[in-house]
Amino acid sequence: MDFDRLDIVCLRARRGEKWTTYPEDVLPAWVADMDFPLAEPLQRYLDELRQTQDLGYPVNPTPAALPTVFAKRMQDRFGWSVDPERVEVLTDVVQGLYAALWTLSDPDQAALVQTPVYPPFLSCVREVGRPRRTNPLVRGERGYEIDFDALRAEVGADTRTLLLCNPQNPTGRAFTRAELARLGELAVDRNLLILADEIHGDLVFPGSEHVPIASLDPEVAERTITFTSASKAFNIAGLRCAVAHFGSEALQSRFNSLPRHLRGGLGSLGLAANAIAWSECQPWLDEVLSVLDRNRRRVDEFVRERLPGVRMTPPEATYLAWLDCRELELEREPYEFFLSEARVALSPGPSFGQGGRGFVRLNFATGEALLNEILERMAGALGG
Ligand SMILES: Cc1ncc(COP(=O)(O)O)c(C=O)c1O
Repeated sequence: MDFDRLDIVCLRARRGEKWTTYPEDVLPAWVADMDFPLAEPLQRYLDELRQTQDLGYPVNPTPAALPTVFAKRMQDRFGWSVDPERVEVLTDVVQGLYAALWTLSDPDQAALVQTPVYPPFLSCVREVGRPRRTNPLVRGERGYEIDFDALRAEVGADTRTLLLCNPQNPTGRAFTRAELARLGELAVDRNLLILADEIHGDLVFPGSEHVPIASLDPEVAERTITFTSASKAFNIAGLRCAVAHFGSEALQSRFNSLPRHLRGGLGSLGLAANAIAWSECQPWLDEVLSVLDRNRRRVDEFVRERLPGVRMTPPEATYLAWLDCRELELEREPYEFFLSEARVALSPGPSFGQGGRGFVRLNFATGEALLNEILERMAGALGG
């Protein structure tokens, strides 16, 4: 498949938010969708659907296939043994975070987030109405790292949950086994529940690895709920389907105290597509990862050579570059500057919480020509 031959007219015809939010002259490099064609098994499934017109009620509430496919994939990819019985299928990962915080913590129990972070982590704690504790990530050798002393100090007697984003959006860190083990130890020591969003786990570049935190040891596993979906790596977010793995039956049954109809139903397309993606589309993902790896190098090189005053550490995972624009000393947030002066839509740093001001997040999951155009426009806006 040629991932660089993208037709801008076809992309503009897409009805998703990436390509419809901004006017036609703006190039979108914001929301985490990719511009690439779908994997062939998914395309075949959609073609078959035209024939079968199989759009009746899916098997619900316990679709048999997806938890088993998920368990096999976790074993094959990450050596993590998952019991399919401990898996629930959800509409999306963010729904799972909200539902878990709602059902598994009391209103006076605080939730801890590590910033900068994917904005729904912040809205989740705010909207579910839990006190928030913040543990800012700090600059270190690998880009951003966990400040364990600050973390220990921030966990009070009232702190119940840790919302972990691994791999981390927007910094692109794939936390190491050692980092995760320290985090797990602290969670055991302070009796924390870990809500681990691992949706970017399949998007890790050579030199790094994805370690599911629940795979570390049984003590960590039994206090962890892991959320993921094929949506991010296989570019099917519009189909709305995700899974949650519970480290214990007790956590699972408390989560399931939320009535099923409040949680919402499952779509047959999402269920089928997640299963197909996880079981048949790895060759496509391998190709995509090599294109993304090339793009991440391109962005890094371009930033160093052509965007003076902008800094980045190449991400270890995700197709997102977290650009530090503070040295540009712009009069407005760089998101606004690049939107108006470059006609490029990035994600605004401040929406990622503390540590986001003066930053933007750039989505580089597109073809070579479009990526070059995005970068050239940004350089042009800075007079380069
Ligand atoms: C870290 C992270 N979690 C969750 C999501 C969204 O997942 P879902 O659409 O399943 O809620 C994203 C999307 O970009 C993400 O980056």
